[in-house]
Amino acid sequence: MKLFLLLFLAAATASAFVLSPQHTWTKLILTHHWPTTFCGMEKCHSKIDTWTLHGLWPNNGNECNSTWHFNESLIEDLLPDMERSWPDLISPASPKFWMYEWNKHGTCAAQAESLNSEHKYFGKALELYHKVDLDSVLKKFDVTPSKQYYPFGHIQEVIDTFYGVNMKYQCVHPSKNAAYQILGQIEICFTSDFSLMDCEKTFREKPVNSSVTTVAKPGFSVCDPEVPVYYPPIMQAQHLWTI
Ligand SMILES: *[C@@H]1O[C@H](CO)[C@@H](O)[C@H](O)[C@H]1NC(C)=O
Ligand SMILES: *[C@@H]1O[C@H](CO)[C@@H](O)[C@H](O)[C@H]1NC(C)=O
Ligand SMILES: *[C@@H]1O[C@H](CO)[C@@H](O)[C@H](O)[C@H]1NC(C)=O
Repeated sequence: MKLFLLLFLAAATASAFVLSPQHTWTKLILTHHWPTTFCGMEKCHSKIDTWTLHGLWPNNGNECNSTWHFNESLIEDLLPDMERSWPDLISPASPKFWMYEWNKHGTCAAQAESLNSEHKYFGKALELYHKVDLDSVLKKFDVTPSKQYYPFGHIQEVIDTFYGVNMKYQCVHPSKNAAYQILGQIEICFTSDFSLMDCEKTFREKPVNSSVTTVAKPGFSVCDPEVPVYYPPIMQAQHLWTI
């Protein structure tokens, strides 16, 4: 009996090993940032008035393969779209930013067969970004950059209701007890087969430190539902904190 159980368990383990996907992540986080807010933190100047890609991040793993080097020529056909949708907001040339994202996140995403090349990874990120089309959805519901503040709940409801899942909203808090917070980043989550999912759904998940990537200093943190949201129009970065 015991032997039978052991054999059974051994077989189950072996088949689970063979059948389960090799990657250790369970969720992909498609992160959009709002250039004006990002540049307010980073002292850059951006004339972009669309939500651009920050990254496509698996929820587990960082720098999974240091020998797998980024090679721009492998995504040559994607470059015009990359420049538009995934620009480096700090530097005029973006490939260093893409290399950073590839080394840190792409090599981990690439543990899954569906994303196991540079072209698949960047191509899928662009595909999801266009499919989600956050800009159009916000415009459609009249959530546009404005000098007036939005109740956080309004933005959240518009977006979450439209997509049918919960997003993660990141804001910059200009100071302690400030009367407003600045909308900076929106994270949309996908299952490993690229269906939308709630951002907080999976268990056993390590907290993702979203402020790590290229961002530093004041940083993004989860928006406070009680504090009005400023969704800033294009402006000089230095004016952002002093409105
Ligand atoms: C890491 O990347 C290299 C270069 O693409 C590849 O040959 C190797 O199999 C990868 N290693 C792992 C563990 O994925
Ligand atoms: C980058 O990829 C191209 C096209 O496959 C290849 O010819 C080139 O040798 C690669 N460059 C490096 C540094 O690996
Ligand atoms: C996130 O990362 C930043 C920069 O590395 C660090 O200063 C901060 O403490 C981290 N936050 C959390 C919650 O781990």
